[in-house]
Amino acid sequence: MNPTTIDPALDLFAEIDRLKRARRAVILAHYYQDAEIQDLADHLGDSLDLARAAQAERDAEVILFCGVHFMAETAKILNPQKTVILPDKDAGCSLADSCPADALRAWKAKHPQHYVVSYINCSAATKAESDVICTSSNAEKIIRSVPADRPILFAPDQNLGRWLMQKTGRPMDLWPGTCMVHVTFSERRIVELKTRHPRALFIAHPECEPAVLRHAQFVGSTRRLLEYVRDSEHDEFIVGTESGILHTMHQAAPGKTLIEAPVENKGGCSACSQCPYMKLNTLEKVYLALRDLAPRIELDEDLRRRAEIPLLRMLAASK
Ligand code: 13P
Ligand code: SF4
Repeated sequence: MNPTTIDPALDLFAEIDRLKRARRAVILAHYYQDAEIQDLADHLGDSLDLARAAQAERDAEVILFCGVHFMAETAKILNPQKTVILPDKDAGCSLADSCPADALRAWKAKHPQHYVVSYINCSAATKAESDVICTSSNAEKIIRSVPADRPILFAPDQNLGRWLMQKTGRPMDLWPGTCMVHVTFSERRIVELKTRHPRALFIAHPECEPAVLRHAQFVGSTRRLLEYVRDSEHDEFIVGTESGILHTMHQAAPGKTLIEAPVENKGGCSACSQCPYMKLNTLEKVYLALRDLAPRIELDEDLRRRAEIPLLRMLAASK
């Protein structure tokens, strides 16, 4: 039998549970994963929650990261002694792809006085070129903590960067990267939808375009959006982020109406806002990853140490 062929009679949930115990594995999952994967997770969260969970992990020998490559790499940077596995090694990120380490190094060389803040959505090699890392949860705090006399280079998400400049009043030079999912939301269709649902609040992730964000009543990371919906007195929301979050949002705020923000119809899907990288992970691949302890994240130790410095700086600054 082909080693990747799975017996259709296998109860995948039971097998994953059995393998998890046998391997002393812990499952970390991002809110953009499929619902069934979110439900399996020992820790479910946004990028900052998951970096913290990886940092705090003591007992497990294996971390199965259900998210994308830069997230699993972050877990490995913080846990070099543990085996870190990702269900699909091709689960990348358009932001991480936009800013390779050598390109950031060349940008820095042109701006030697600048302080480099990199969004966590980048490779370990790009992290290693940065002074500090941020996520969408702590970015405002991190920017405010940069010494006032240092100009800032911000990479790789220009939309998050613009939103931060607006929030903090701090000018920054921005790397021209974007999230391929969040830039697809359509301002025109969101405005139309708001007209049809006058009671709905539009909430959005800061990776969206400024033209979309200006219509938002609330902007925040995935966890902040989740908490906002849960705690708000309103009961109808248009949600401008990857649609995986709606699963946990429905659980956190039962009875509230959640509408996916519409994307521009460019000849493809006109309604979905799914990250093709996040969705590469499936239940079958979770099972295979635990069974085979692969694909593994491996990092050169010198690179890991250099990438760890700005990451630990972020974790200390966002306590
Ligand atoms: P957060 O988890 O920080 O909200 O980021 C969203 C995202 O795009 C992760 O890839
Ligand atoms: Fe990257 Fe965007 Fe996918 Fe997040 S949603 S992993 S930022 S492409």
